[in-house]
Amino acid sequence: MVYKSLFIYNEGNHRLYMVFIRARRMQLYQERVMDHYRNPRNRGELATPDFSSDLHNPSCGDSIVIQATIKDGILANIAFEGNGCVISQAAASLLTEAIKEKSLDEIRSFTPDHLIALLGIPLGPTRLKCALLALDALKAGIARYA
Ligand code: FES
Repeated sequence: MVYKSLFIYNEGNHRLYMVFIRARRMQLYQERVMDHYRNPRNRGELATPDFSSDLHNPSCGDSIVIQATIKDGILANIAFEGNGCVISQAAASLLTEAIKEKSLDEIRSFTPDHLIALLGIPLGPTRLKCALLALDALKAGIARYA
């Protein structure tokens, strides 16, 4: 039996649909963040890093260490270690995945907004500090290396 559309388009239904789409998108981002927290990419130590940069969040005491090797101006390998909340550790994992094998110039132009977009979830001022811990450590390491 063929059903005619049960969904009658009107302004109210459209708004409801958009709320559903936003909620679904948020759920997917949250799942991705949890996946990076539980299965972090590039977690560990490098045997002979070109730089190692550590930073801690003074408000909570959590910390992150970023190590990288550079070859011909390209970030050839990167690893991180750290203790911290879901956001700080997932952000570190997402960051390392996004910048691996990119040039130092590309990485220098990687902004907090890029990382926040990768996380894709709303962040208040406290969570923003958590999210940017790894990026700040990375930028400090590159500044010292170059
Ligand atoms: Fe410490 Fe997020 S609560 S880094």
